Amino acid sequence: MILVTGASGTVGSETVKALQKRGAKFKAAYRDLSKAPQGVEAVKFDYDDKGNWDAALRNVETLFLLTPPSQPKELEQALALIEAAKKSGIKKIVKLSAMGVEGNPEAPHRKAELAIENGGFKWAHSRPTFFHNNFAEGFAGAVKSKTLALPAADGKTCFIDARNIGEANAVLLTDASYEGKGYALTGPEALTHSEACAAISAAVGYTVTFKDISDAEFRSMMKSWGADEYMINIYSGLYGFVRQGYMSHTSPDLKTLTGSTGISFAQFAKDHAQIWK
Ligand SMILES: NC(=O)c1ccc[n+]([C@@H]2O[C@H](COP(=O)([O-])OP(=O)(O)OC[C@H]3O[C@@H](n4cnc5c(N)ncnc54)[C@H](OP(=O)(O)O)[C@@H]3O)[C@@H](O)[C@H]2O)c1
Repeated sequence: MILVTGASGTVGSETVKALQKRGAKFKAAYRDLSKAPQGVEAVKFDYDDKGNWDAALRNVETLFLLTPPSQPKELEQALALIEAAKKSGIKKIVKLSAMGVEGNPEAPHRKAELAIENGGFKWAHSRPTFFHNNFAEGFAGAVKSKTLALPAADGKTCFIDARNIGEANAVLLTDASYEGKGYALTGPEALTHSEACAAISAAVGYTVTFKDISDAEFRSMMKSWGADEYMINIYSGLYGFVRQGYMSHTSPDLKTLTGSTGISFAQFAKDHAQIWK
């Protein structure tokens, strides 16, 4: 039995769909059980309430470990769940991580990966780059206001669609032949943020402009949105990588796992056009 954490979120919900398609035996964890789709075995799970953990982990052999993004407790939450998984006899963990963390031993995702690798589990790390879906979620308001301002300059990013991440996760969770490795998950093409905005413009029928801003402007913009220092530092660092071109390379791993090179950004924009209208 597989347990999917973060099952109501962007990646978790696509992982659930992909596991359903593969006919895998799994249950999905929710803080709010009413978010579970029909036909999915749902269990209550809250990182902040250990009262539910034993029941959620019961009879689970494989854990999909997702911690809510960019918040100061992400490492603490991951380490606590890894420890609980060990105690309850879970054999394998697939962790949702991020592309490139293997080069940074201080990154919370890497620390959690190492705790899994050294914890006596079978494992595989799912390491996506930036999601297409950010444009339809966190950036949706900016897109609708017709200007997306980020400190990305003309750095290219090989954005990936959450649907493809879900499919790759389902393979990692169900196929033992991919264990013991991290997988860099990218989409089929590297785009600048200007090119991404042009693809959205074509899908929605109005012009969305990308505006390059400085790191200092970005930090004060995030502060004005109420973001804390932890989150600001993460995103400021990530856009530094974008500007330096580290996010521009494509990886063969999605094709290895799923047989597909991934959904294009233009297709993602067409599929989500309603959100920006
Ligand atoms: N966005 C990117 O471009 C990107 C790129 C690479 C890696 N990542 C990584 O992807 C992960 C985030 O995935 P995502 O975008 O799918 O997240 P998401 O859409 O924000 O979903 C977060 C999930 O966590 C659940 N959650 C929140 N607080 C919880 C708690 N206290 N206990 C249990 N569950 C809780 C949410 O449930 P509720 O519905 O109850 O809130 C939801 O299911 C992060 O680790 C991030 O670093 C993101």
